[in-house]
Amino acid sequence: MKKILVTGGLGFIGSHTVVELQNAGFDVTIIDDLSNSKIEVLESIQEITGKLPEFHQIDLKVKKDVTDFFNNNNIDGIIHFAAFKAVGESVKKPLEYYENNIGSLVYLLQEMRDRSIDNFIFSSSCTVYGQADELPITEEAPIKKAESPYGNTKQIGEEIIRDTCKANGLNAISLRYFNPIGAHESAKIGELPLGVPQNLIPYVTQTAAGIREQLSVFGDDYNTPDGTAIRDYIHVVDLAKAHIAALQRLLQKENKNNFEFFNVGTGKGSSVLEIVTAFEKATNQKLNYKIAPRREGDITAAYADTNLANSELNWKTEKSIEEALQSAWEWQKKQ
Ligand code: UFG
Repeated sequence: MKKILVTGGLGFIGSHTVVELQNAGFDVTIIDDLSNSKIEVLESIQEITGKLPEFHQIDLKVKKDVTDFFNNNNIDGIIHFAAFKAVGESVKKPLEYYENNIGSLVYLLQEMRDRSIDNFIFSSSCTVYGQADELPITEEAPIKKAESPYGNTKQIGEEIIRDTCKANGLNAISLRYFNPIGAHESAKIGELPLGVPQNLIPYVTQTAAGIREQLSVFGDDYNTPDGTAIRDYIHVVDLAKAHIAALQRLLQKENKNNFEFFNVGTGKGSSVLEIVTAFEKATNQKLNYKIAPRREGDITAAYADTNLANSELNWKTEKSIEEALQSAWEWQKKQ
């Protein structure tokens, strides 16, 4: 059985990916520093899959601990989620973002090089494209200068991996996520935002649950049909499955280049107001919202061209936006 290291495996996307990996028969070892996750998630994963993944509480910024881990574990592949991910916070704390997101990546790659470990999957983001000139966004779209230190860590991360693949023969895939939402159908794992949510869906579900008074829709004067910004919202379970497909591609040596990248989205854009309406319909909840000014740094529209991921990874999304919103709501109710 192949042993896969999942860093950040107790986080939102990480935990759903661990579930899918175990369901697909992989042996999973998680590293997480619990800086933005809860240890209880481990038990939830066991409840869903019937198997407790191995867990190591390690801070990947501590090189010695990373080396010790690899001294004691034989790993066949790595899916690297562990990173800070709040755009606004990254503007206030750039050094923390560079240290955490870049430092941990470099240490992992050094261990892989030194031990000839292959097969690396990187959590990237459609943020690398900025406001693309053409929609839907293909992998050919130019990389735009990052709007935030967070976005920059994803761009620099991809460059570090590209250089390492070239110099050291590593095989890697970068998955550029669009907007992951939703929760596992069991409602045992989901997104756990700390404090006031910055992302749309947790804010929506918390408003419906009465935790927040009102949702602010940031801007209704964008150049879109209803004036609100458009994103590609993908069910987190579909996103998790893309990682399994990418990993299989590397393990079976089906990759065409030693560094590949794929857009992971649904291909369909939804506006903020469409999300509000879809949420109300899917959950039978009335949502209290108001139109507010635009949020700084936001782009007008982004949605993926998924052709490359569909054909090369032999993967496509299976779940609808209604299912995603409903699962997010079921998860919220359990909190
Ligand atoms: N929005 C609101 N009200 C809110 C929160 C969000 O109207 O309370 C709007 C935003 O303005 C935006 C849309 O909902 O138009 C989606 O916003 P999110 O914050 O959920 O997602 P973003 O697209 O801004 O950001 C996400 C990830 C980032 C990633 C980025 C790439 O959170 O990590 O996609 O585009 F970098």
